[in-house]
Amino acid sequence: MDMDSSPSTQDCGGWLLYVSLAAKCGGDPCRVVGFVAVAVVAFAVTSLLHWLSPGGPAWGRYWWNRRGGLGIAAAIPGPRGLPVLGSMSLMAGLAHRKLAAAAGGSPARRRLMALSLGETRVVVTADPGVARELLASAAFADRPVKESAYGMLFHRAIGFAPYGTYWRALRRVASTHLFSPRQVSASAAQRAVIARQMVEAMRSAAAAAGGGVAARPFLKRASLHNVMWSVFGRKYELAAPESEETAELRSMVDEGYDLLGQLNWSDHLPWLAPFDLQKTRSRCSSLVPRVNRFVTRIIDEHRARLSLAVDAAVDFTDVLLSLHGGDKLSDADMVAVLWEMIFRGTDTVAVLIEWVAARLVLHQDVQARVHDELDRVVGSDRAVTESDASKLVYLQAVIKEVLRLHPPGPLLSWARLATSDVHVGGFLIPSGTTAMVNMWAITHDPAVWPDPNKFKPERFVAGPSSDQAAEFPIMGSDLRLAPFGSGRRSCPGKSLAIVTVGFWVATLLHEFDWLPLSDKSRGVDLSEVLKLSCEMATPLEARLRPRRKV
Ligand code: HEM
Repeated sequence: MDMDSSPSTQDCGGWLLYVSLAAKCGGDPCRVVGFVAVAVVAFAVTSLLHWLSPGGPAWGRYWWNRRGGLGIAAAIPGPRGLPVLGSMSLMAGLAHRKLAAAAGGSPARRRLMALSLGETRVVVTADPGVARELLASAAFADRPVKESAYGMLFHRAIGFAPYGTYWRALRRVASTHLFSPRQVSASAAQRAVIARQMVEAMRSAAAAAGGGVAARPFLKRASLHNVMWSVFGRKYELAAPESEETAELRSMVDEGYDLLGQLNWSDHLPWLAPFDLQKTRSRCSSLVPRVNRFVTRIIDEHRARLSLAVDAAVDFTDVLLSLHGGDKLSDADMVAVLWEMIFRGTDTVAVLIEWVAARLVLHQDVQARVHDELDRVVGSDRAVTESDASKLVYLQAVIKEVLRLHPPGPLLSWARLATSDVHVGGFLIPSGTTAMVNMWAITHDPAVWPDPNKFKPERFVAGPSSDQAAEFPIMGSDLRLAPFGSGRRSCPGKSLAIVTVGFWVATLLHEFDWLPLSDKSRGVDLSEVLKLSCEMATPLEARLRPRRKV
């Protein structure tokens, strides 16, 4: 739960007043009715006063209850929304677009905008400078933990663990054994095997369907197999019918995505929590035993193998089992950490590759340039290797441009929680406030990126006509384009993700021409849907024409 959602002692003051008035009523029905009427009016007046503040009711309550110091004049600008509910409607659907629209043409609101989600105070920035201040600040190294994240054990895994010793130990272990440059290059052969399988499976599907193929199922299965291999040491064949094990895992990941991605009203209106109206709690309670059973079985198999001293490749489960001393994890914590890795590593990569492929189907001229580069660097007599990637400069520019136009985590995965009062962008942000960076708004701001809505990979290629440096960093040091976040809690899987996406896209482009469907009414649809990641609302379908003889 958000720290913010627990009532402060000042909030309690109002309710104590109502209760003491009630006590004075004794049992007299007229007095009780009178009391109820007074309480309703008092509640309505208080709610109205809170709602009148910039940013709406949660901010109003803060300012009205704040004793001494700054007054409401120091409030951060922002929409009021509705009494009690605040701006909940902004978070439904395409929240990144709605929040950008709410900031509108107001430079002050783009820098920092306050809003209320029920009782949660929120600030959003669409300014690279303020975003840097915010994400780099130690005061924002925590995340607000949603009910669904608790329900799915994620408060014991890297993404939602409170900032502190436990979180640091998990990040250290993951950085050393899963995400370090050495580990990333050690798993290159594994990515190559899966790339081959994906190409073969797509080739067969294209031949069977006369060309038209939906890319998403292949991309999702490839990502799942890749992460299962690294984390559990499990290997699957992509062309084979889906195994029971992967089908079960996929269904658990899908359920988890749905739960974590949805706007849960009781996260922000805690008095709704007992009713579980959206069934978040009950769905988490059904999911967690399945996750426990699944992951515990795999941990037990690893333990048995280790006890037999069987020589096998080391995967992330082996690494966790080998920890000792202060780093040793309980079985329950191990389940949480392994489940999170599978969960996070699966969809993000597939979502990004689908956007890249969609853009290339839509912009055949760009695809032709990518093909030219592949023919020049790789040639048609061999497959792409990961070591080709650094020479595929234009392809890298294409991927950066897709990350700019379609950041997979435009907003949601960015939430941070202020753990102390802190000044950002010239304003006081009180402890307990949820902070978000609207990366999508930054990457679509004409003041930051010329022609922001145009797909122009050239902007990331060095040369006299380019308007940005070729070496534009996307790992979090420049907040004009930081799709993996920034600061202490930036994405630890970013290098692995970039290597995987770069290599798989290069392979898929080297092997196929990606052409629009012959049926013009089923062209590429760039509409978005925001779940945990921002995905294509209509899955991409394209005609795949093999380019190389194998
Ligand atoms: C295209 C692929 C990916 C994108 C766009 C992406 C994006 C993000 C973003 C925006 C955050 C929040 C950063 C912040 O708060 O500053 C994040 C966090 C995280 N990501 Fe990724 N990610 C991707 C792939 C991966 C992969 C492959 C893994 C692991 C297998 C991973 C694991 C994590 C974890 C564990 C966190 C939480 C970090 C923490 O709170 O300390 N991500 N990611």
